Amino acid sequence: MVGYAFMGAAHSQAWRTVNRVYDLPARARMALICGRDTGKVAEAADRLGWDAYTTDWRDLVNRDDIDVVDVCTPGDSHAEIALAALAAGKHVLCEKPLANTVEEARAMAAAAATAQAAGVRSMCGFNYRRVPAVTMMRQLVADGRLGVIRHVRAAYLQDWIVDPQFPLVWRLQKDRAGSGALGDIGAHIIDLTQYVTGQRITGVSAVTETFVKERPLPGGSSGLAATVDGSVDGQGPALGQVTVDDAAVFVARLDGGALATYEASRFATGRKNALRVEINGSLGSVVFDLERLNELEFYDATRPTAEQGFSRILVTEGDHPYMSAWWPPGHIIGYEHSFTHQMRDFIEAIATGADPAPSFADALQVQLVLDAVGRSADLGSSWTEVEPALTAVAV
Ligand SMILES: NC(=O)c1ccc[n+]([C@@H]2O[C@H](COP(=O)([O-])OP(=O)(O)OC[C@H]3O[C@@H](n4cnc5c(N)ncnc54)[C@H](O)[C@@H]3O)[C@@H](O)[C@H]2O)c1
Repeated sequence: MVGYAFMGAAHSQAWRTVNRVYDLPARARMALICGRDTGKVAEAADRLGWDAYTTDWRDLVNRDDIDVVDVCTPGDSHAEIALAALAAGKHVLCEKPLANTVEEARAMAAAAATAQAAGVRSMCGFNYRRVPAVTMMRQLVADGRLGVIRHVRAAYLQDWIVDPQFPLVWRLQKDRAGSGALGDIGAHIIDLTQYVTGQRITGVSAVTETFVKERPLPGGSSGLAATVDGSVDGQGPALGQVTVDDAAVFVARLDGGALATYEASRFATGRKNALRVEINGSLGSVVFDLERLNELEFYDATRPTAEQGFSRILVTEGDHPYMSAWWPPGHIIGYEHSFTHQMRDFIEAIATGADPAPSFADALQVQLVLDAVGRSADLGSSWTEVEPALTAVAV
């Protein structure tokens, strides 16, 4: 694994847990973790349960006894690490968004297609697909329970940078993160809604905004927390330019005929990590809210009129997706379980020679949507078609 902070910890927990919960055809051994600071990565290896540590990610790629490389770094290093790992025949799990640019994502999808022919697997970490209620949403749509999908309404809202004194961490720098709220959290709802509906976004009209354009330079940072650097000549901390969007809002058309709205913001005061998706079809509607992730609201319009209404399904039964290995019905699970489910599916795909999803090609398609949103916003919200991804994986 490369990176040991927020996602490094979440993935480590999942790698530690997955074989203890699920009966799988292969076992994960947590061999080597990489970070740039010797002391910190040594401490992380011990705390998170890794056998050894290194400060150079090339050590993971070069070691013969390592089969899987898990990329948990900011977007500016995804392409370099993933391309080297695939070339060395390692299976790769890469955090989202796949890359910082379409160009990088195309190269990664092409390399994944080449590696696939040699039995090397790759997957992008859109973990919310693996929340059982979300997986069940997809099943309801696929089984025709919603009929023809007319509307998709998605919002992913946070508020961690409302304070203008919050420092300029890597997530607020375009060269490190690619984009802001759009690529960080917007990418999740793009992937989630396309996964659930089975439809792809074909075109968008977008607005983006950077509400706070300069921020204090950071002292230390990790995940979504950070400190501000000391003052310069008694003038207060030095400021730097915010080069990404704070919020992105767009309307979209899906290839199955649905109309969709998307909102991704880090300025939704009071909303900590509020991911909500509602889908309306000709025969019913379904609603998912991450703050109640064990539940699904389902409206079945085929029921007798007198009995119609949104019903709350508690998605904790043994025959709900992923749930048979956990606890008795009603004993709820949480955020971290989505990562355990992700590792389960990845290990199973590697061991059985199947192609895991979302593939790098799927993640490239999300990147193309992000790119179309950015271009539309730059062009005063003009309607912008999403480029087809197909050409990217032909190499
Ligand atoms: N799936 C999700 O829900 C989710 C949530 C948060 C973040 N992410 C994604 O995970 C990735 C990491 O985000 P995070 O929140 O964990 O960031 P973070 O700042 O908490 O951690 C980044 C880690 O990468 C390390 N790192 C950076 N460059 C490195 C390099 N060149 N070599 C070795 N280590 C390096 C840092 O030392 C740190 O340990 C990003 O792509 C982000 O978009 C996904």
